[in-house]
Amino acid sequence: MLISSGRNTCFALIFTSILFLIDGATSASVSATPAQTFHGVGGSGAWWPMDLYNFPEATRQNLSALLFSPSGLGLSSYRYNIGGGGVNVSNPVRAPETFYVSPGVYDFSRDKQGVYFLLEASKRGVPSITAFANTAPAKLTSGGASCNGGFVSGTGSAYGTYLADVIAHFRGQGVNINYVSPMNEPDSSFGPSPCGQEGMQVQPSQRAEVINGVYSALSAKGLASSVGILADESSSLGNAGNEYAAWLPQVQDKVAALVHHTYDFPSDASYTSYISNTNRLYPGKLTWMSEICCSLGNADGSGKGWSGGYDPSIKNALMFSSLVFQSFILANETHYDFWTLVSNQLGCSPLNNAACATTANSNGWNDGVIYYDGSYATNKNYQLFIKKQFWVYKHFGNFVKRAYQPPTLLPSLQPRMTIFCSAGSQRRPIIGSDANKFTMAVSDASTYYILATNPNSGDTSLTLTFPDAACANRAHRTSASEDFVQLAGAVRSGTGWVLALKGTSLTTYIFDRRNC
Ligand SMILES: *[C@@H]1O[C@H](CO)[C@@H](O)[C@H](O)[C@H]1NC(C)=O
Ligand SMILES: *[C@@H]1O[C@H](CO)[C@@H](O)[C@H](O)[C@H]1NC(C)=O
Ligand SMILES: *[C@@H]1O[C@H](CO)[C@@H](O)[C@H](O)[C@H]1NC(C)=O
Repeated sequence: MLISSGRNTCFALIFTSILFLIDGATSASVSATPAQTFHGVGGSGAWWPMDLYNFPEATRQNLSALLFSPSGLGLSSYRYNIGGGGVNVSNPVRAPETFYVSPGVYDFSRDKQGVYFLLEASKRGVPSITAFANTAPAKLTSGGASCNGGFVSGTGSAYGTYLADVIAHFRGQGVNINYVSPMNEPDSSFGPSPCGQEGMQVQPSQRAEVINGVYSALSAKGLASSVGILADESSSLGNAGNEYAAWLPQVQDKVAALVHHTYDFPSDASYTSYISNTNRLYPGKLTWMSEICCSLGNADGSGKGWSGGYDPSIKNALMFSSLVFQSFILANETHYDFWTLVSNQLGCSPLNNAACATTANSNGWNDGVIYYDGSYATNKNYQLFIKKQFWVYKHFGNFVKRAYQPPTLLPSLQPRMTIFCSAGSQRRPIIGSDANKFTMAVSDASTYYILATNPNSGDTSLTLTFPDAACANRAHRTSASEDFVQLAGAVRSGTGWVLALKGTSLTTYIFDRRNC
């Protein structure tokens, strides 16, 4: 409904160039033609539920609101980790229980920890829930463990049946799991044993069997049209693109979206080439970003890369927003998931050091947006620590929306259309000389949202014009001293609007789509 005709687009482009002649180089324009329709913004429920389940109920509720409610991040995607049993995983926090007992026999009283937060996500209306597995249940893997082994050829049907049964169980309870991802980072076994986390190597040549197994099992339950299969969660874009040929052509129609991680922290050129190759070889297949964490670097995105180190500052938060912008603006992808959301990797002890959570250190990890004390079990410190990245991600969670799915509709009655064609908000390219990789425009039927980063220390401003009616509403800003604070909206200037961009900040300017 927001898609303009070609003639309107041309008109907007001509109109824009005239403005440049009048205003000089300080203007940019929001395009009349939408790019992608967004699908989701989210993160994963691994492995923090194991700890946070032990926190007081008031804190568990607070955390659930911080993650899932619009007053918090307002995530539209949550990835529930179907545990593999944690056999031979040395870190108990990373060893989720499995429901699997034996073929067709399940114990659904297990994994209370993960299930608690899955139900919170569902109750609080997160519209897209993926069930993902790092490994098959230990009994099905080559080594009889939850890591340091691989998928056993010939078990695709058994594994698929198990996943479909688990999903059917939760859907029967009203939890709208609408995606399943059967192999998270199949490029590694995460050995040697004892391992730091669960994992199962699935050779590229075995991946089609896994997908066929899951698809057949979903079909047998009448779920193939309402639960989409995501694959293959390769840890890097490089692996993803290189390995598609070995499995994807065999199961192309059974995969709802190609999901990848970006632990190679691709350059713009590498990302663009992955997208164009994938579009050329597998036309019509959407690609999604489904996992990333753990980078230092600068507010403009330079210096990014896989690394330890904890940095709670606005600098790291803006580095992160540059990653999200790369996937949304440069790669035109529709979905973005961060990794674990909640972490105990502060790298310091908050009870012994008052500045622990607010100061960068090299011992921790940037793998969460909310942190907790890893020693809570002994010192009873149940505080939650919110990193600046949380407030930056809230801009995306609150303003890049997936269409709301009415909860009254029984999951089994939701047509396939709601998975693939739901009317989420859309990206609008920003065109003109000041268009840059730090500013993104989003529209829905009634509102424009302009998410604008200023990665430099000096204040600046951007004058923006719209292709149709727009009237400034308000703004929200996250900076070194501000956490999503509400501010007055943009100021009119002639036919455009002036967006003040404070140094080292992310501001979202909101416009009602009407004349003032
Ligand atoms: C962006 O992706 C959408 C599908 O999500 C597609 O229709 C559109 O053509 C793409 N635009 C560009 C510039 O690649
Ligand atoms: C799991 O641990 C046991 C005991 O250390 C060991 O014998 C076995 O080989 C391990 N399994 C795998 C797959 O590494
Ligand atoms: C939730 O936790 C955050 C972070 O610790 C805190 O600022 C906030 O006051 C808490 N809210 C409630 C309702 O407890």
